[in-house]
Amino acid sequence: MIVWREEMSIGVVAIDDDHKALIDIINEFEDSKTRLKAEVSAKKLFTYTQSHFRREEELQDAFRYPHRHDQKHDHGLIIKDLRGIIKSAFVDKTLSDDGLIASLSKLMHDWIIGHVLTHDMKMKHFFQITDPSEYNFLPPSILKQSLQQSVGN
Ligand SMILES: [Fe+2]
Repeated sequence: MIVWREEMSIGVVAIDDDHKALIDIINEFEDSKTRLKAEVSAKKLFTYTQSHFRREEELQDAFRYPHRHDQKHDHGLIIKDLRGIIKSAFVDKTLSDDGLIASLSKLMHDWIIGHVLTHDMKMKHFFQITDPSEYNFLPPSILKQSLQQSVGN
């Protein structure tokens, strides 16, 4: 089981909330007692990850985040990996029931921890020093609101 910790915060409420939700889904996956339940959670993780990446990219584009192109590239690879894992586990069934949940849980743990603590952590400093009023465009309201909360404007 993964527990979200303050050190995982990148300081943008909408993104932190997404990461917490992704961790909840991974924990739910780990608690799956049947292959069917594991499949439902894995697909939920896939769908949520796609929407989370869209939100991250939207935020990064809106604020001209300098690493946004690398992040987009990495997101594409993660989606491809996740799709491959889910397909081999639940469609091709190349993974046996024995150890299926344990091995996929480990992969998901490593992925979320790596994603949050390495990739996304780079955004923390950027958003701490970025003043949204310096930009002459309006990002989507939810992101603007989140950012204002996080920087205390
Ligand atoms: Fe993220």
